[in-house]
Amino acid sequence: MSTEKTKKRLSKKAKTVISVLCAVFVLLAAELIYSNYYIEAESFEYSAENVPPAFDGVKIVSVTDYHNHGGFYEDDLIHKIERVSPDYIFLVGDIVDSTFTDINVVSRFFKRCSAIAPCYLCFGNHEQRVFGEGLYDSYMTCAEDAGVTVLDNKAVTLERGNDKLTLIGTSNPLEQNMLSEILEGADKQTPLLWIHHYPEDFADMTADAESLGFQKCLMFCGHAHGGLIRMPFTNQGIYAPGQGLFPKFTGGEYYSNNSEMILSRGCGNSGATLRMFDPFEIVVCTLGSEKAELV
Ligand SMILES: [Fe+2]
Repeated sequence: MSTEKTKKRLSKKAKTVISVLCAVFVLLAAELIYSNYYIEAESFEYSAENVPPAFDGVKIVSVTDYHNHGGFYEDDLIHKIERVSPDYIFLVGDIVDSTFTDINVVSRFFKRCSAIAPCYLCFGNHEQRVFGEGLYDSYMTCAEDAGVTVLDNKAVTLERGNDKLTLIGTSNPLEQNMLSEILEGADKQTPLLWIHHYPEDFADMTADAESLGFQKCLMFCGHAHGGLIRMPFTNQGIYAPGQGLFPKFTGGEYYSNNSEMILSRGCGNSGATLRMFDPFEIVVCTLGSEKAELV
């Protein structure tokens, strides 16, 4: 084979390799942009025979790990929530970010959420961190001014007509006696709605509630950020705060005894973290009232 022919063949091969590398690079760049800007609305249904009839079809939006993004990103998130037209908005912690603490951004976000539906807030690790830096009072004032109900180890009753459901919000794992105090007088037959930032606490905390006589719990969590880099077509991520490498809880539905957790992948990055195959997410949960079968 002549030297000229060998050179031509090699340059053809090189061109092919370069083209493939370029295509892979463009696809990865597109994926990076998608996973770090796009917000999906994931729908879930929770049906149980003891969901009161007035709550049948009620839509809950769960927003977690917003990390105080603001700007065009805030507009997009608010429009996505508006499109769902929820009955309640659960703000499940890390709405603020410890590296971006502009309280005006938090204030505006709370007000815009409150204009859509009644909002209930529990705290995540970033709230705890900024509270340690002296922002507790201003954060609470933001929530109060916007009409956001803060559930810092507290419970409230949601009422629709004559029907009621209890919603509890917790900021840290609790001893069972404290849980019992917070839930004193709550109806144990209807599902206990629960907002708690940390998914790794789900099984223990709901087991405590069940052993207090609550039939079932529906817990909304965040914090895991979907595992940051997800294996395509699986629910496995690489890393989650609080769980470490190859976390058990990354996103979606999980079950323990009679209780269920709906875990959001969250809708914001913290600091310089990036995600891959892991777009932002708001959870949309529709409650359903199943009738008990007559025997
Ligand atoms: Fe968190």
